[in-house]
Order: sequence, then C-alpha cells, then structure tokens
Amino acid sequence: MTRTKTVYRCIECGASHPKWAGQCTTCDAWNSLVDDLDTPHEPGRMRRPPAVARPITEVSTLIAGPTATGIDELDRVLGGGVVPGSVTLVGGEPGIGKSTLLLQLLARWKGRSLYVSAEESDQQIRLRAERLDALHPDLWLLAETSLPHIVAAIDELQPSMVVIDSIQTIADPESGSAPGSVVQVRDCAHRLVGEAKARGVPVMLVGHVTKEGGLAGPRVLEHVVDTVLAFEGDRHHALRLLRAVKHRFGPTNELGVFEMAGHGLVGVPDASSLFLADRRTGVPGSAITPTLEGQRPLLVEVQALTISTNSGGPPRRSTQGLDHGRLALLLAVLERRARLPMAAHEVYTSAVGGVRLTEPGADLAVCVAIASALTNRPLPPDVVMVGEVGLGGEIRQAAHTSRRLTEAARMGFRRALVPINDVCAVDGITVVPVATVTDALAELGLRLHAV
Ligand code: TYD
Ligand code: MG
Repeated sequence: MTRTKTVYRCIECGASHPKWAGQCTTCDAWNSLVDDLDTPHEPGRMRRPPAVARPITEVSTLIAGPTATGIDELDRVLGGGVVPGSVTLVGGEPGIGKSTLLLQLLARWKGRSLYVSAEESDQQIRLRAERLDALHPDLWLLAETSLPHIVAAIDELQPSMVVIDSIQTIADPESGSAPGSVVQVRDCAHRLVGEAKARGVPVMLVGHVTKEGGLAGPRVLEHVVDTVLAFEGDRHHALRLLRAVKHRFGPTNELGVFEMAGHGLVGVPDASSLFLADRRTGVPGSAITPTLEGQRPLLVEVQALTISTNSGGPPRRSTQGLDHGRLALLLAVLERRARLPMAAHEVYTSAVGGVRLTEPGADLAVCVAIASALTNRPLPPDVVMVGEVGLGGEIRQAAHTSRRLTEAARMGFRRALVPINDVCAVDGITVVPVATVTDALAELGLRLHAV
C-alpha cells in the first residue's frame, strides 16, 4: 500500500487540495471536493503513441454505425445500438438491475463476449444467467479485479464486446493510487477507453450511484466515456427506466422502459398502458398529461393532495418525480393568478409510476391536479392537458403537441386542453385552447366561486 495521507480531490477535474474548500480552485466547480487518498504519481499515464494532426478534409467520415443489441428498449436509448469502440457507462443504484441488463445484452450478442465480474463470483453469475436463460456458449466470464489481468484476458480472448461490472471495483496495482480512489477509478476508465478505441470493441462499464444520484466516486468518469446511461426506478417496484444522460452518437432524451420480471428485464413497448394501469377515475387530485420523452409520448398521471394548515409556519410541500423549484413556482402562480389559497395548504404531489417529469409541458397538469385536490372536484376521466405555465399565469406552447395528443387518443382520451397558440387537429380528440391557468380551471369547473 502506498501513502495513506488524506487529501481532498475534486470529482470534476481530479485536482487534489490539502484542505477542504467549497470551491475547487483549479476548475471552479462548487462542492466538488471529497476525501481521497494521496497518490505519489499524477494520473493519466497513457501508453498510447502520440496522435498525428492532419487536415480536416483528409479525415475519413466512415465511422461504423451502431450494432443493434436485440434489446429494443436499450437500442431505442442508444439510437440504434452500440457503436464499435465506444465506451458506455451504465449507472444506477445497487439492486436496480444493471448486472441483469448487461448479462441479458451479452446473451443476445452475436459473437464472443467477455463479462468481467469484479464483485460477484462466476458461480453467482452463472446462477443468474440460468435464471435469465442466458447460457450463451460464447459468453465468457472472468471474476477479476486487476486491470492488467483483465486486459490480458481481452488480448487472449479477442471478444467483440466487453462488460466490466463494476468500474469502481477494479484497480491497477501499478498505479500508485489506492483502490477505490477517484484517481484509480478514473485511470482504469481511461485505460479501458484506450483499449476500446484501439480494438474497435465496445465496452460497457457498470457504475454505482450514490443516494444523491451522482456516480459514486468520480463524476470525472462522465467526461471520459462516450455514453452515460442512467438506470432508474424504485427498487421495490418492477418498473425500470433507462435514459441516456450523455450520448456522443445520438440524442440523449430517449427513454427505455423495462419491467423486472422473474426471468430478467422485459421491455415495455406500450409504456402508457403500464403507467395508467392503476389509475382510479373520479378521484380529486388526479390529472393526466401526455409527456414527451425524446420522440416517445407517454401518458403520465400527476397526483396531488392538499391539506389545510393552521400551524402558522410555512406549509409543507412535498413532491416525488417533480422538481421542487418548479412546484414552488406553480404554487405561486396558482396563488396569485388563479387566486387559490395555496399558502394555507400543505401540498403533496407525485408523478405516478416512478417517472420523473422534467419537461415544462407537464406544468398545466400539475396545476390542474392541485386545483382539483384543493376544490375536491375530480376531473372528467377522458381529459388530458399539455402546456407550460408562465409566471403571468399564461399557458405556453409545449413541443410536438400533436404527437402527444395522438398518443392520448390511442389511450382512449377524448378531450385535451392545449395552449391557445398550439391548436392542432388530432382524430378522436376535441381540442380546447386555453390562454391562462384560470381559463383552464374554469373549463374544468375547478374555480373557487368565493373569490
Ligand atoms: P442486479 O442486476 O443484481 O442489480 P445491480 O447489478 O444493479 O445491483 O438485480 C438485482 C435485483 O433484481 C435483485 O433484487 C433481484 C432482481 N431480479 C429479478 O427480479 N429477476 C431476475 O430475473 C433477476 C436476475 C434479478
Ligand atoms: Mg450488479
């Protein structure tokens, strides 16, 4: 073991500092310093020959396209499949299903593949593979944590796909830094990226994620790899969402939906049905919005509950799947523009099914769900709404409204509240243009007559 003096390492740029500070003086990132072990050598020793500069006109545009993995929901997120020589980081909390997904990927891979398990024994992997029906004869297992041994195995086997489970548990004994340290993990990832590029072999890295949602250890990893996939969901429910956080070869906003079943992850092509499966109509505080994840419209239920409060202190606001800041803004708009007494109520909101609603097109549904809860009046069961809500209470356009409404029509909805500047004709749907939140609430019978 090398020196074990503690330093503070920036997880953004890797710089070390003798003292903790709120901001990294090297890259100016805030709150990025973490405890780490000091290393005698500086990182990033690459064993590659220097690159040669050449005119841009002489650079070949012939890069190989993606190879489909055969797992449709994964291919959707990756924009068609895995690109040769690319490095993909699959991040997610323990138990979410990262090892399962990657084992299923290798079981379908045409050609030899290598699954390096630095966490579980090969017996454990074999047991899981039996359960997944993934006993592919050209799927090779290696239970190993040492990077040079892993590279030697790649040399020997010449696989056409490599999975490393996980990047945080492998180490290079030659690197001076301590196993598990930020520098060690980053160095190993650098080395694997070099191997992937040199051989044209795709490499998938598993990365554990902390409770706060960051990749445990280095966020620097995100800069090193080509693609970062986030695997999300509630461990206690079967639903799993896969999204690209970074993708050098395609769009980053596609969503893959899976269900964890007894024999592994099963793709859910019709996610709207799944999200609406448990819906009860006629209950106040529930509104449906066709949200858009990449090219994919999804019908999501927004729920709200309000409780009047006399405590005197600031009323409680709690939200799952919605942004706290956005909720605060919408509550302020409801208070001032629609004159609903939000300050006198605790508000609980949730996007059902473990979805995270990040796009502003869901604003109107959040406002309507809250107003429905507050007035204790349920919405008609066949109505959806789309629109961003501005501070003036105005309803602004959301992207691709007609695509959203087509999905709503497919799921049996008949009426849609849309921004006044965004009226479109969709078969089976009566479109109701609304200019303001107040108009929308009036249309749905959710105004408080007292005000
Ligand atoms: P795993 O892939 O080991 O998660 P990770 O690698 O992200 O830590 O998946 C673990 C969970 O998935 C575990 O709780 C058991 C469950 N599971 C199933 O429900 N069905 C299955 O077929 C498999 C293999 C796992
Ligand atoms: Mg695992």
